[in-house]
Amino acid sequence: MFYFQLVIMAGTVLLAYYFEYTDTFPVHVQGFFCFDKAFSKPHPGPEDDSKAPPVLVYSLVTAIPTVTILLGELASFLTKPEATQEKTIVTADCCYFNPLLRRIVRFLGVYSFGLFTTTIFANAGQVVTGNQTPHFLSTCRPNYTALGCHSPLQYITEQRACTGNPYLITSARKSFPSKDAALSMYSAVYTVMYITLVWRTKGTRLTKPTLCLTFLSLAVLVGIMRVAEYRNHWSDVLAGYLTGGAIAAFLVTCVINNFQQTQPQLPPLPPPVHPPRLEPSLNMPMVTMPCVESPLEKLSGPQVRVTGGYIGHQEGVGNLNKS
Ligand SMILES: *[C@@H]1O[C@H](CO)[C@@H](O)[C@H](O)[C@H]1NC(C)=O
Repeated sequence: MFYFQLVIMAGTVLLAYYFEYTDTFPVHVQGFFCFDKAFSKPHPGPEDDSKAPPVLVYSLVTAIPTVTILLGELASFLTKPEATQEKTIVTADCCYFNPLLRRIVRFLGVYSFGLFTTTIFANAGQVVTGNQTPHFLSTCRPNYTALGCHSPLQYITEQRACTGNPYLITSARKSFPSKDAALSMYSAVYTVMYITLVWRTKGTRLTKPTLCLTFLSLAVLVGIMRVAEYRNHWSDVLAGYLTGGAIAAFLVTCVINNFQQTQPQLPPLPPPVHPPRLEPSLNMPMVTMPCVESPLEKLSGPQVRVTGGYIGHQEGVGNLNKS
């Protein structure tokens, strides 16, 4: 089964490569209206001169989820044995080291699979629709005299209407949906779902929402830059967001089961029973489960607090919050 997955993965990478770097799939050539204002924006220069250049976008798209997943898995690995100490003794290192690696490989593998799938979806959409970018007519530079253009209502279907740089014209025909927007939103949604579903931060209530909103606004910022620099229409960006967000949501909910364990013998990140009892004594602004608000708690509270193991657990989570 593992090798079968490798074959699928290799096929996906190969298809993404063909879309990205070859002319295997020729772009659909659309016509245009003479003097169309929506497509006559000035050419914004090469992609590398953008305020959100591809190098930066792709680095962040790769780095943010990788770092988040590594941090989250390491933190939950380091804190889990304390929450289930009895099991640690029985199954020494056979059942706690392997799940860590397996989870990391699984989540990052599915993430990169989705990354290539999003690239393929965006490229396929661009090639099939052939919708032009806002700077298309500035790049195409049609000779309106030769084409006989007199009114903006005339639609030009002439294949050789353009006189500009053929390479730039081909890339100006690839606009819908925006690939940068799709990849950014895919990365942001995957990371945000990981943070909300896996991270167990006890310290502050606002850590997770702040991180999630930061990543989502970075993705929104990329889309805004695409529109502001006349590289895409807002509809391209919106379609890119929908593509990326839908692929991330599908992979997380249907393929990796909301980042939960699939093995029945390992309970999915067991909610620690004892730490919530500590929170009132540590002045944490947290709503605890009402079922532990019993006279028993007042009796057992001080004893639990002395044992240090759970305090270490709290500090470990606190470190995660700071980083
Ligand atoms: C546009 O076409 C006309 C007629 O064919 C020609 O005279 C003119 O030089 C062309 N202009 C440019 C900029 O190529």
